[in-house]
Amino acid sequence: MGILAKRSKDKNIIDTVFTMVKKANDAKVKYGIDSVIDVTIGSLCDENGKFTIFDSVSEVYKNLDNMDIAPYAESFVGNNDYLREIKSWVLGEHEEKFRVGAIATPGGSGSVSSTLKNILDPGETLLIPNIGWGPYKIMAREHDLKIETYQLFNEKDEFNIESFRERSSEIMKSQGKVLAIINDPCHNPTGYSMSKSEWENVVSIMNDLSENGNFILLNDVAYIDYAVKGYKESRKYMECFTDLSSKNLAVFSFSCSKTLTKYGLRVGGSVFISNEQKNIDDYMRANEFTCRGIWSNVPKGGMKLFSTIQENKTLRSKLAVERDGYVKLLEKRSKIFLEEALAVGLEVYPYKEGFFITLKIKDEKIQESMEKLNQQNIYPIQVAHGIRIAICGSPSKKLEGLAQKVKNIIG
Ligand SMILES: Cc1ncc(COP(=O)(O)O)c(C=O)c1O
Repeated sequence: MGILAKRSKDKNIIDTVFTMVKKANDAKVKYGIDSVIDVTIGSLCDENGKFTIFDSVSEVYKNLDNMDIAPYAESFVGNNDYLREIKSWVLGEHEEKFRVGAIATPGGSGSVSSTLKNILDPGETLLIPNIGWGPYKIMAREHDLKIETYQLFNEKDEFNIESFRERSSEIMKSQGKVLAIINDPCHNPTGYSMSKSEWENVVSIMNDLSENGNFILLNDVAYIDYAVKGYKESRKYMECFTDLSSKNLAVFSFSCSKTLTKYGLRVGGSVFISNEQKNIDDYMRANEFTCRGIWSNVPKGGMKLFSTIQENKTLRSKLAVERDGYVKLLEKRSKIFLEEALAVGLEVYPYKEGFFITLKIKDEKIQESMEKLNQQNIYPIQVAHGIRIAICGSPSKKLEGLAQKVKNIIG
């Protein structure tokens, strides 16, 4: 028997990231920090390797009233100001074009997890990319869901719309409903961002398949504020959703972890759109129940922090300026690595922007390559079908010459 429920008895997180971070830290102690290239760190750091704190955010947080932090939130679904501001921030100029709902969640993670829970029943299948953020699989397991994957890229290194179509239609045929995850822009871990025409194709597949059931798309927009093309352009594709069939719903999983670099505050949200009010009402009702039934409510101070900044033009632009400096820094770091990778013939997945670059490595070679890199004091992270280089956490000077070194080591 044992103390655990049947569905929990085999749960066990194998944290490859934590293990590698520890190995890198041990190496720093043993060989000195300058001898180690640590590209494990998945959070944003400055050129001295220090965790990025936006002063424009910290100042506002320090000045929040105690009563903005200590009491419960205004409701299970979140503070009204916060909900208004995340809808407006995530959807930008497109907000008025759809029926819209929002709930506050503990980080973007809470948004993804509650979406899986409320859209699919245990035993049903979730569609995710074959290369993607690891916790999607953990969350699926948590809700007793099966996983199916679409190939993220085709042979031309574009979004593999054919694979997305095939897998989605198989699932629609077998379960009469599809829940698919896309992580765009700045896909983790490849740094890919989809074009507007790729998005148009996704929406048209959603609409075609909706003849046989509901198609729910979850776009994980955790990194939306790190798109090089800026606020307005990075949301341009959202106008495709004006054509969304009334049977469909799109959920955007938003995260203050990246947008404010406040990972520990655990504030995020689901912003969901449809052209049918009933979808919004149903989704809202079920999620309100989940909020109360699982986490009760999200930290009030974190929500107040976001809404205070967003509703004030001066504060908002101060943050935008600070964050843009980091978008430029990521661009600079990516160029250093990618130009050299190209020159030495080190293959990478199609990076456009964001926190990570991933090396294309054959599955059977990944383990061996990791070991060889570690032996030379280079510490990246193993991911599905590749090896991730976290340019977000690594000062530029550590990235200079890295592609050449990696190429020499793994061939
Ligand atoms: C792809 C992706 N989605 C969502 C998240 C959610 O993070 P949080 O729950 O801290 O908002 C992360 C954080 O690493 C991420 O990389």
